[in-house]
Amino acid sequence: MQRVTGVNDLTAAIDAARERGLEIAFVPTMGALHDGHLSLIREARRLTSFVVVSIFVNPLQFGVGEDLDKYPRQIEEDSVKLEELGVDVLFTPTVNDVYKGNMEVTKHAGHIGEILEGAARRGHFDGVLTVVSKLFDAVKPNYAIFGAKDAQQVFLIQQMAKADYPNIQIVVAPIVREESGLALSSRNVYLSTEEHSAATLISQALLAGKAAAVSVDQAIQAAETRLLAIPKAKLGYISLVNKNTFEPVLDGFKGQALMLTAVVVGTTRLIDNIDITF
Ligand code: PAJ
Repeated sequence: MQRVTGVNDLTAAIDAARERGLEIAFVPTMGALHDGHLSLIREARRLTSFVVVSIFVNPLQFGVGEDLDKYPRQIEEDSVKLEELGVDVLFTPTVNDVYKGNMEVTKHAGHIGEILEGAARRGHFDGVLTVVSKLFDAVKPNYAIFGAKDAQQVFLIQQMAKADYPNIQIVVAPIVREESGLALSSRNVYLSTEEHSAATLISQALLAGKAAAVSVDQAIQAAETRLLAIPKAKLGYISLVNKNTFEPVLDGFKGQALMLTAVVVGTTRLIDNIDITF
């Protein structure tokens, strides 16, 4: 595995792969890699033989008072995992390599970027799209793989790619969970033992919502009752959206939907979602 920091070194590695006629699959991450991330890399491997992974904790997508400073950073441990998976290039740029002294939003997420996660985290998705577009410009991949765990993020990236990167195929990989059902997240390391067991109730609430999906209202109600009963937790939102538009659905909706929730357990904000067809 080649580890590169500067964009010029990255470009040289990518150009060499292209000259060998290889297609490029790209997995952007913020590091502290867990099995969820690794599943995206395995998917990348299935798609093509040249895999690029980036690790970059993007300041532009963190709000004031969020966990930018304490976000887990463990590059050496991550590097070993990536080497084992046969990743070709690990791109670990500095803030300056990415933003070149100009940390400004250059991609706007629009209306869907302002609901749900975007309402709680103002400007978050503008920051995500801005960095993903800069990474796409640097890597110029054929495929980019994202997790369904961050459903709103991947919806907005698909929208951006459709408009601005029609040559990049966005691939969505399923949510990887612990045996308890808790969706893997780099932020799970913040949870105490007690908080961790409370957090396992989130996915159970979503499953209960799915089981009650005779109607939109009943599904929401079943999930909400359970989410509100989680100890040491504060419900951010529970919502059902049309999977194709991300617009909230009303009772009577027929089609593919996503039920999404954010729950703050202790001080840790966790998100999860589940597919529901009405
Ligand atoms: P990060 O939180 O590190 O996640 C990197 C990728 O891993 C994302 O596509 C995310 O959806 C996926 N992922 C995380 N947990 C997962 C799980 N349990 N199962 C499946 N996939 C999972 O998301 C980001 O970084 C950043 O916003 C980024 C896109 C890199 C831009 O900075």
